[in-house]
Amino acid sequence: MALVVWNDNFSVQVAEIDTQHQKLIAIINELDDAIKANHSNEALGQVLAELLDYTKTHFEYEENLLSSNGYPMFDPHKAEHDALAEKVVFMGDIFAKGQNIDSGQLMNFLKFWIEEHILEIDKKYSSHLHSKGVH
Ligand SMILES: [Fe+2]
Ligand SMILES: [Fe+2]
Repeated sequence: MALVVWNDNFSVQVAEIDTQHQKLIAIINELDDAIKANHSNEALGQVLAELLDYTKTHFEYEENLLSSNGYPMFDPHKAEHDALAEKVVFMGDIFAKGQNIDSGQLMNFLKFWIEEHILEIDKKYSSHLHSKGVH
């Protein structure tokens, strides 16, 4: 079963962002499946690199949308993104060095990260964006 399952509660009521969040969840699930299938560290590192790459793409898109619409909580939101991206880079470095990593701990972190960030941080901008006509 997939580690993270999308449901309507995750929706931020902005179509493009929901699509991007679903893609992030899909890559996290892909990494979880690869770990469960005992893929090599190199293969896992590749999926993690894909995750980092798409995370950056998504954060940039979201930050542009928030700043161009004058979101008052932009600075703390951006700080949260920077801290998360840094942690994913750190995990990627561990794989790249071929060091052993506690995969259970890694996946718990990613599951918690995506769920908590969408539910507690991203959802807060919905009403602001709606007031600016962004859906
Ligand atoms: Fe965000
Ligand atoms: Fe987001």
